[in-house]
Amino acid sequence: MSTDTDPAGGRGGAFRTKTVEQSIRDTEEPEHALKKSLSALDLTVFGVGVIIGTGIFVLTGKVAKETAGPATALAFVVAGVVCALAALCYAEFASTVPVAGSAYTFSYASLGELPAWIIGWDLVLEFALGTAVVAVGWSGYVRSLLDNAGWHLPAALEGPDVAGGTFDLLAFLLILVLTAILVLGMKLSARITAVVVAIKVTVVMIVIIAGLFFIKADNYKPFVPEAQGQTSGSGWDAPLVQLMFGYEPTNFGVMGIFTAASIVFFAFIGFDVVATAAEETKLPQRDMPRGILGSLLICTVLYVAVSLVVTGMQHYSELSVTAPLADAFKAVGHPFYAGVISFGAAVGLTTVCMILLLGQTRVFFAMSRDGLLPRFFSKTHPRFRTPYRPTILLGVVIAIVAGFTSINELAALVNIGTLFAFVVVALGVIILRRTRPDLHRAFRTPWVPFLPIVSIAASVWLMLNLPSETWFRFAVWMVIGCIVYALYGRKHSRLGKAGQDARY
Ligand code: ALA
Repeated sequence: MSTDTDPAGGRGGAFRTKTVEQSIRDTEEPEHALKKSLSALDLTVFGVGVIIGTGIFVLTGKVAKETAGPATALAFVVAGVVCALAALCYAEFASTVPVAGSAYTFSYASLGELPAWIIGWDLVLEFALGTAVVAVGWSGYVRSLLDNAGWHLPAALEGPDVAGGTFDLLAFLLILVLTAILVLGMKLSARITAVVVAIKVTVVMIVIIAGLFFIKADNYKPFVPEAQGQTSGSGWDAPLVQLMFGYEPTNFGVMGIFTAASIVFFAFIGFDVVATAAEETKLPQRDMPRGILGSLLICTVLYVAVSLVVTGMQHYSELSVTAPLADAFKAVGHPFYAGVISFGAAVGLTTVCMILLLGQTRVFFAMSRDGLLPRFFSKTHPRFRTPYRPTILLGVVIAIVAGFTSINELAALVNIGTLFAFVVVALGVIILRRTRPDLHRAFRTPWVPFLPIVSIAASVWLMLNLPSETWFRFAVWMVIGCIVYALYGRKHSRLGKAGQDARY
């Protein structure tokens, strides 16, 4: 039974909820409808396409070298378990509320308008900044390939991460091209995605299979390096949990595995993006859970294998932090493999960027359809049936951010934003089971409320392992979001207006 109390179908004020039926009905208005064309296989390809990216290609080396050593494989297992718990909650919501917008839509139907707005705003951190981070990582790989061929960009156009650089031209151009592809339609982007995913998975398999022959058992000793005090930094960049409990901040050791997990978590971001395409899925009730859990499982197995192989090929202290997978092959005297891996990474990162951008435009589209952002953005293109207005607007903004911003701090911010969304989704599963037990759920999260509670605890634990400065930036971003809601969304909400019309 619903606890709804107003004629619009939800509670009043900032906690008014949009009913699930209402969410589904909205997607059926012809001028605001997206084309339903995706199958479970498309979704899995889509998921793997966005999940494997900068996380495994770049962060593995940095984390193994500085935070966890060979135990990085365990950090991937920890992060994978946290994501699997969240995925079980996402799958129930995605199969119950099969409309565009992911965690945003789910929370609108269960927690209310203000929490939904907060989640939508929070997803901007995940998708938009995530797109920028991956574009900058892509640009680094492409520059390294260009350097091999003897071509060099002027230093000023290599991006702010490079000495003397100010603007990352390649990252900027990549996002503009991807924006154009998305405006032209889902079908085209799904086809390109499939080819690129095949290349990316092949390259990862090459790393695992070819690398196996170069593993030296000595490199695994010690598997969990002893904890060491941090020598640099003011403490502001130490994990919040270590500061909270008055520990001296350390790297390595058992705590290092969790710190590493909060960083390599970035490598799993994207499985939740599959849920944002629910409205474009032919049979969301059946295909959504399959797509989400399937892509997550494939990636977890690959990550553990890759990190074990790479830390077995080279001692962790010698790993490269910019292109670790390729450089490990150079270190064992196989530059040809290194070239192939660099090429595959550069190609593979394009899909990651594209799907993160797609996820963001879909959330934006859903928020505007609800009137929390201007309705202007929710009209789909008459011919391509894509939400072209938010796609173009966001594409240009993100391209500029990617051009001018350094990636390191952004990645931590992306992680905290995503983990926060996991917490809200798990909470939403518990609430919706109580408020709407009658709803048809094609996929049911097992052991509710126990499993969602464990999922919340696990996500919060990883959040606490992120630096204090990341927490501060996250708080500032969320406060800005609340101000925007108070000044715009609250007054223009379609749900709020419907409630008023019915009352007067
Ligand atoms: N999981 C994606 C990556 O690692 C975002 O690049």
